[in-house]
This record gives sequence, structure tokens and C-alpha cells, in this order.
Amino acid sequence: MKHFLNTQDWSRAELDAVLAEAARFKRHKLGDQLKGKSIALVFFNPSMRTRTSFELGAFHLGGHAVVLQPGKDAWPIEFDLGTVMDGETEEHIAEVAKVLSRYVDLIGVRAFPKFVDWASDRQDKVLTAFAKYATVPVINMETITHPCQELAHALALQEHFGTSDLRGRKYVLTWTYHPKALNTAVANSALTIATRMGMDVTLLCPTPDYILDERYMGWAEQNVAENGGSLTVSHDIDSAYAGADIVYAKSWGALPFFGNWEPEKPIRDQYKHFIVDERKMALTNNGVFSHCLPLRRNVKATDAVMDAPYCIAVNEAENRLHVQKAVMAALANQ
Ligand code: CP
Repeated sequence: MKHFLNTQDWSRAELDAVLAEAARFKRHKLGDQLKGKSIALVFFNPSMRTRTSFELGAFHLGGHAVVLQPGKDAWPIEFDLGTVMDGETEEHIAEVAKVLSRYVDLIGVRAFPKFVDWASDRQDKVLTAFAKYATVPVINMETITHPCQELAHALALQEHFGTSDLRGRKYVLTWTYHPKALNTAVANSALTIATRMGMDVTLLCPTPDYILDERYMGWAEQNVAENGGSLTVSHDIDSAYAGADIVYAKSWGALPFFGNWEPEKPIRDQYKHFIVDERKMALTNNGVFSHCLPLRRNVKATDAVMDAPYCIAVNEAENRLHVQKAVMAALANQ
């Protein structure tokens, strides 16, 4: 039984098939691939796009989605084994995943890191526990990576450039300022899918502290070795933007400060000028801009960039619907 926990676990042929199916769903909305089937969407964190697109996606294909928010409208869940559960948690993931598997055909999980201890967060315990105990396929709806966003991003780029072959494109993943230290998931995922597609990828970030976890840097290096392209780390804004075909922005907290964010804040505050603006975009090769959304305007990117014709963030958000339908259809009918 196959899960969709990370794109790195899927072959390029499987990803290409999902993207092609997503493009078909974009042209023809309705299908019966989930007729009589259902998905539990388990949210430990807020969402607008993910929840809406999964719920509607299941509906479009004849299926049904049930949203659960443990600790809010469902019992709080224990994930550690051997715990004497005399605290806040009411039931163990072993029972939750097994019982849900008796009801539904797919389980989606959103569980962000706790931002206290990266060594613990990087184990992706919630997602891996669901995958361990569930007897139906599990879909990552964003944990420490965001593979559904990766597919939506890839499809938006393929649509923009009019080809599924993105090799040779100069791709810049730029860190941007945000008042809070955010999850590295979308940055990990952008690096993963851009190198998987064989692009020449630059990770632009303020200092070496903002380089991503070695697992994802390693995946990117592995992808370059297997698919061609390149991977460069830069701290120089103008040279990174020069000639770029794609600029993808995301903010994230510096990993060495996980659990001790106070000293990171004044460092982060020095780099507000990493905002994506018209001057920087003018350095590109008529490049496109995108972001996973939600985005704070005039903090991460200016109004002018967000409203420019080269901003494809809304199309990428729409594509979440199409790629997730393709993923659900593939997993529910394997
Ligand atoms: N990009 C994304 O996952 O959006 P939501 O957090 O609104 O689901």
C-alpha cells in the first residue's frame, strides 16, 4: 500500500502521471474515482487552501470528506509509546489510525512542527505514526514538508512555460522576512521538487544559519546527481535574482535557534530587505514569481509584485485542488 508522505518516495514516472491526471482534472472537473469512498482530513493546525481543496476535491470525484481537529472537535491524541496517559491526551494514535481506517479509504494529516526541538520535530512523528498504524493510504497535508504544494507548484510552472520539461530553468528559492519564525516545510519542498525537475536551483538566504536541514539539502543534492541541474547556496540578493526564470519566496526560522527563538528575532529583523519587490524582479529573465500562500503583503512581497502578471501564486493555489484529486484518485484505486 502506497502513501503520499513525500514526493521523494515516488518515482518520477509516478509524479508525472499525477501531474498529467491533475491537468486532465483541471479541464474536466468531475469524475467517479472516489465514488462511495471517503477521506478523513486530520488538522492539527489551521488551513484555508488545503481544507477547502481537499473537501471539494473529494466531492468532485464522488467521495466524501470528514474534517477532524484533534484537541478541538476530536479527542486529543497521544503519540508516544509507553506513556501513562494521565494528562491531556484521551486516546492513542494506534487506536485513532486503526479506527479511522475502518471508516474511511484515505487519511490526510496536517501537523506542523512544535518549534521547540528540531531534533524531535524532524522525526515527523505525527505523520509517521499515522502511516505506521493506518491500514489505508495516508496523505501529507503539510508537516515538515508540503508535497501537495510541490505538485501544485510544479503544475503551475509547467503551465506557465508550456512544457513539462523544466530542465535548464534558473530557479531561485528566496528566504523572506516574516515577524514570526515559520515552518521550513514549504522551503524543504520547493528545494526538493525544483531539483527533482532538473532545474538550476539557488537557495538564497541571509546567513548560513538559514540553510535548510541536511535531509532536504541531501535530497536536493541526490536529485541533482540523478537528474542534472545544479544547487547553489547564495547570500547575495542581486546575483541570485540575475537571470532567474522563477522566483519562489518563503519565510522560515533558522534551525540552530529552534527552541530558543528570542536571539533569532533581532537577526531576522535585519533582513527585511529580502522582500520580493519590483527592483529585484526586474533583474530576472522576465521571471515568474510564486508563493504557497498565505502571504503577508508588503512584508514578504510588495503589492506590485503580487498584482503583477508574472505572479502565478493564485494559479498555484488553484492547482492544489487538481493535484490532490489526482493523488486521492491514485491512492484510493491502487
Ligand atoms: N498553502 C497552504 O497550504 O495553504 P493553507 O495553509 O491555507 O492550507
